Amino acid sequence: MFQQVARSIVLGCFLVSASAFPRVPTSFVLVGDSTTANGTVLDSGGWGNGFCGSTNPAALTPSSLAPGTPCINTAKNGATTGSFVADGSFNISLANIKAEVAKGRRTLVTIQFGHNDMKIAPPESMGANLTTMVNQIRALGGEPVLVTSLTRRTFFDNGTIQDLLGPWADETILIAQQQQTHLLDLHAHSITYVEAIGPDAAHRLNRSPDDNTHLNENGTIVFGRLLADLFNASFPSQLPIIPNPGLTFNITNGIPSY
Ligand SMILES: *[C@@H]1O[C@H](CO)[C@@H](O)[C@H](O)[C@H]1NC(C)=O
Ligand SMILES: *[C@@H]1O[C@H](CO)[C@@H](O)[C@H](O)[C@H]1NC(C)=O
Ligand SMILES: *[C@@H]1O[C@H](CO)[C@@H](O)[C@H](O)[C@H]1NC(C)=O
Ligand SMILES: *[C@@H]1O[C@H](CO)[C@@H](O)[C@H](O)[C@H]1NC(C)=O
Ligand SMILES: *[C@@H]1O[C@H](CO)[C@@H](O)[C@H](O)[C@H]1NC(C)=O
Ligand SMILES: *[C@@H]1O[C@H](CO)[C@@H](O)[C@H](O)[C@H]1NC(C)=O
Ligand SMILES: *[C@@H]1O[C@H](CO)[C@@H](O)[C@H](O)[C@H]1NC(C)=O
Repeated sequence: MFQQVARSIVLGCFLVSASAFPRVPTSFVLVGDSTTANGTVLDSGGWGNGFCGSTNPAALTPSSLAPGTPCINTAKNGATTGSFVADGSFNISLANIKAEVAKGRRTLVTIQFGHNDMKIAPPESMGANLTTMVNQIRALGGEPVLVTSLTRRTFFDNGTIQDLLGPWADETILIAQQQQTHLLDLHAHSITYVEAIGPDAAHRLNRSPDDNTHLNENGTIVFGRLLADLFNASFPSQLPIIPNPGLTFNITNGIPSY
């Protein structure tokens, strides 16, 4: 009797901590181009550093994830879906996925392409390659999560985004529907946010003043958090994401943080 009560108290404590951090141990593996990748300038590049956290001890970019959550950024500068496979990068992603799954971890794999695919082929070519990636990830026990391209921060004079990535975002959405994966619509949400904060604040997130594609350290923090928020919306209360209510408030309400 006493033992049973004691056990339910222990269980009660466990449930309290489980509501803060989920019970299922989870890992993240990131697949994509430079708008996800760790950049060549420390803490810069894509949203991956802001989402995973930087390995630089002096970094401004804390992780969006609970301590101890593996977050392996295998994204590569300049990659198309085709080059990522052909140069062996995707094999590195698959090896990491296999290793995380083998540890008994729920392994979520983000896939975000488009910025370079758009330079070489119509959207359907990227779509076919995304489908192959989704199947290969699932075959290893990983869980693919398709992500639409981060917008470029190139504005028309009237303050709207000059969007060339739309057809590649639409293709990603189509593949997510066909393959029944989770979808994080970073493209739409990043356009909404940068149009709300306007060109000056949006360009303060650029890696260099005229680089409307890559992010500086503040940009990775903002868009890493946007990814975390989109994950939280798509997998409610399932993932080991650390809340950042102030930044989420700013993003949701179109307020510049920097
Ligand atoms: C990211 O790249 C920087 C150099 O550009 C390097 O110092 C850092 O260790 C890299 N981080 C990861 C997680 O690979
Ligand atoms: C998709 O992969 C094929 C090889 O399987 C490649 O020929 C094609 O260029 C790739 N498409 C893109 C947009 O990278
Ligand atoms: C990736 O791994 C597969 C299976 O081991 C192999 O057939 C393929 O050649 C590898 N790709 C590259 C580019 O090394
Ligand atoms: C803004 O300007 C662009 C380019 O001239 C135009 O295509 C677009 O329709 C305009 N949008 C609005 C909301 O006025
Ligand atoms: C996830 O979303 C819910 C509902 O909006 C919110 O209460 C919670 O704080 C969010 N969690 C994180 C980690 O942002
Ligand atoms: C939110 O935006 C305000 C106004 O720009 C800024 O002072 C604050 O630091 C931002 N909060 C976060 C957490 O980024
Ligand atoms: C990031 O924001 C902080 C606080 O506003 C600022 O001091 C710093 O210069 C910014 N970093 C970059 C690279 O713009």
